[in-house]
Amino acid sequence: GTGKFSYDPGFMSTASCDSTITYIDGDKGELLYRGYPIEQLAVNCDFMDTSHLLLKGDLPSAAEKKEFVGLVKKHTMLHEQMQFFFRGFRRDAHPMSVLVGTVGALASFYHDALDISDAHHRELSAIRLIAKMPTLVAMSYKYSVGHPFVYPRNDLSYTANFMHMMFSTPSEEYRINDVLVRALDRILILHADHEQNASTSTVRLAGSSGANPFGCIAAGIACLWGPAHGGANEAALNMLKEIGSIERIPEFIKKAKDKDSGFRLMGFGHRVYKNFDPRAKLMRETCYEVLNELGLHDDPLFKLAMELERIALEDDYFVSRKLYPNVDFYSGIVQSALGIPVQLFTGIFAMARTIGWVAQWNEMISDPDQKIGRPRQLFVGETHRDVQIKR
Ligand code: SDX
Repeated sequence: GTGKFSYDPGFMSTASCDSTITYIDGDKGELLYRGYPIEQLAVNCDFMDTSHLLLKGDLPSAAEKKEFVGLVKKHTMLHEQMQFFFRGFRRDAHPMSVLVGTVGALASFYHDALDISDAHHRELSAIRLIAKMPTLVAMSYKYSVGHPFVYPRNDLSYTANFMHMMFSTPSEEYRINDVLVRALDRILILHADHEQNASTSTVRLAGSSGANPFGCIAAGIACLWGPAHGGANEAALNMLKEIGSIERIPEFIKKAKDKDSGFRLMGFGHRVYKNFDPRAKLMRETCYEVLNELGLHDDPLFKLAMELERIALEDDYFVSRKLYPNVDFYSGIVQSALGIPVQLFTGIFAMARTIGWVAQWNEMISDPDQKIGRPRQLFVGETHRDVQIKR
């Protein structure tokens, strides 16, 4: 015969790891961070509370939060030489290409945080990654628009400081709007972790070899960049702009059903959720709040998105395949309203997901029985061929 092996499908479905961090029930549309429902965290907590929760296992007391935030603030600046990496990039480099490069390069500066067998090194590299991602994302934006880099300000909250570094210039300080800061902070909470998604699995697999955490996070950023994963928020906004008007929705719905078109509705469907992604509902509410705050409640893209959602959720193709809006469907509209350029959306997703990646990496590395990852394959190729016969 062809030498094809038969196989036991069971081995293909072995769970990749035990984890205590995030729980998803795809059928119920449930998402818990360390047991807390995302709906409660998004309303009652901020991103620093959530970061402490994911990394350390519980929400911080007032004193613990003060200490954690203080530690993060100590590390928001980059080594001054890091800025020379930026000059090597073209001005129109995609921010994700800049982040993959600069986050990996952090390993060349912090030799005191590379020994993963040392708990203090692990803590230090975790804090540095959480603290420096906003600075790097903001710098990648400033570089792309030819503005001077803006240094972090420790008198501002984590998210307000990010908006300051993004939008302040030497000649004009960004005016902090608390409603908008709160909205972006909630977006960071919604993106913070999502159990073993593709980029988190990438970070775990890279980390299982003992690679340094900066390199592992750079690997996660590279994976998140893909349009089927974190790149979907950028792709979803571009899709809405391409649809352009409510009258053109049926044309795109038809294309999305046609397998040969290669077109999928960006921001719809999910590997795990076969119900509404709870983050999508929270993102839509946040979108509505921001647009109202900015007097943009008639935003045509938001109206278009809601109409597209309504039509898709009445269409048997989507309903029968349990395709619902996911976290990426509305996030592009609200980030646009916040003044964030579309090419930064996935970079902000990476900034938020860094705490999830770091918490999952730390959980794996701290397990004394942890071994190097070695996914198995299903060999379906030719076997036992003979060169002599070929000759
Ligand atoms: C994220 O894993 C995570 O947790 C990821 C994430 C996280 O927080 O880390 O949640 C973030 O990545 C969200 C997903 C963002 N991606 C997109 O919005 C891109 C568009 N979505 C699709 O590419 C797709 O839905 C995936 C990639 C998300 C899931 O792909 P699957 O697993 O192939 O989808 P499926 O098996 O559920 O598909 C079932 C059917 C298929 O058709 P049939 O073969 O049954 O006829 O639905 C079709 C698919 O072709 N389908 C779609 C579709 N998504 C699936 N058809 C049209 N439009 C879509 N968006």
